[in-house]
Amino acid sequence: MKHPVEIEPARGKLGVLLVGMGAVSTTFIAGTLLIRKGLAPPIGSLAAMGTVRLGKRNEGRSPLIKDFLPLAPLNDLVFGAWDIFEENAFEAATTAGVIKTATLEQIRPELEAIRPWPAVFDQRYVKRLMGTNIKQGANKLELAGQVREDIRRFKAEHNLERLVMVWCGSTEIFMTPTESHESIGSFERAMESNAHEISSSMVYAYAALKEGIPYANAAPNLSADVPALDQLALDTGAPVAGKDLKTGQTLIKTIVAPGLKSRLIGVSGWYSTNILGNRDGEVLDDPESFKTKEESKKSVLDYILQPELYPELYKDLCHVVRINYYPPRGDDKEGWDNIDLVGWLGYPMQLKINFLCRDSILAAPIVLDLVLFLDLAKRAGMSGIQEWLSFYFKSPVHAPGIYPEHDLFIQLMKLKNTLRFMRGEELITHLGLEYYD
Ligand SMILES: NC(=O)c1ccc[n+]([C@@H]2O[C@H](COP(=O)([O-])OP(=O)(O)OC[C@H]3O[C@@H](n4cnc5c(N)ncnc54)[C@H](O)[C@@H]3O)[C@@H](O)[C@H]2O)c1
Repeated sequence: MKHPVEIEPARGKLGVLLVGMGAVSTTFIAGTLLIRKGLAPPIGSLAAMGTVRLGKRNEGRSPLIKDFLPLAPLNDLVFGAWDIFEENAFEAATTAGVIKTATLEQIRPELEAIRPWPAVFDQRYVKRLMGTNIKQGANKLELAGQVREDIRRFKAEHNLERLVMVWCGSTEIFMTPTESHESIGSFERAMESNAHEISSSMVYAYAALKEGIPYANAAPNLSADVPALDQLALDTGAPVAGKDLKTGQTLIKTIVAPGLKSRLIGVSGWYSTNILGNRDGEVLDDPESFKTKEESKKSVLDYILQPELYPELYKDLCHVVRINYYPPRGDDKEGWDNIDLVGWLGYPMQLKINFLCRDSILAAPIVLDLVLFLDLAKRAGMSGIQEWLSFYFKSPVHAPGIYPEHDLFIQLMKLKNTLRFMRGEELITHLGLEYYD
């Protein structure tokens, strides 16, 4: 047994700050409300249903994660959100059309009570959207100040002990880090001069981190993953996670690709296409937002298959990703993958995957886990990038100088070993020689 990390107890209420109250956010909020009333099971959430094996395989110790670690109870979660539309959470969930209206009726008063605060929004970063519930301010630093006031008011009104923020807003245009993002000083100067390099999501991330609040990015756009905000997170003791929730097609890709690679089966082509009809699909129909998503989706295979180590198997892989906005499908996405494989003696084979998934149904339990694990990390004194939460992301944030780990099974091992480490339990290497001594 190693030394356990000291973890403060989960005392009092936990405020969940959601930026954007669309399909993912409302499915998460409504789901959590239904689960805590005992009206639905928390399927897909490790924090709610998962177990962690401790010690040797013959010890029979596999507690629920929520019994092993002091996670915030679901009853202590209080939700707040910003959006450019004024609809309350009941109306927004109805617009999103993920959860049946009859089900939403069971929690209607709680949902109606969640009314979004005016948003920090600039259409230059999300071209396909226009709303009316928008903050006005002289510059971006002042807008961040207004977000911080919203947070403090929310905290006082609901008597909250702790907070977590998750960006569930639309995918912003593709951006890369610049000099403005280098240090906290240059970042703040850029905010004051209203520089284009500071997107709306960065304003929220800055506000959260300034308050020492954990921040996660559910979308693929550049947000807290710049040196200035990395530093700010360390300075204020705030854990950070991101980016782009690993759901749907990429989830399946990171399940299948490690399997093919583990048996050294070659892949010459991977063609992925999606049809999607929700607001996210509409936003991604804009080429600049799509580019952000495309970069996030495409990087996965390179890292998993390691063509530099296995050139005969993966060097010439042709990887194509398409997303087509197709309104009749709403949130019920359909993904097709055609995978061209190369086997023994170079013989070609094919694998076809047709995944009829529900995007937000896959995303909501991830948001719940991120909220609970980031709050845990904060109470355990962990700040900055939380690589152990890579499990949940398509483009995991990581320390400079190392490559991101995309293999879902390595990510899960990393997550569970981090939980064991926090509690001072032995890490599990799966060596297992001791059973044969
Ligand atoms: N659904 C999934 O499985 C999934 C997976 C990975 C990533 N994502 C990402 O998560 C994000 C949310 O997805 P969704 O399906 O809920 O989309 P959505 O379009 O239903 O909701 C996004 C909401 O964000 C709001 N918004 C946009 N900019 C804002 C701002 N600056 N401030 C406040 N609100 C703002 C929009 O008005 C909208 O209501 C998207 O970026 C999406 O790409 C979703």
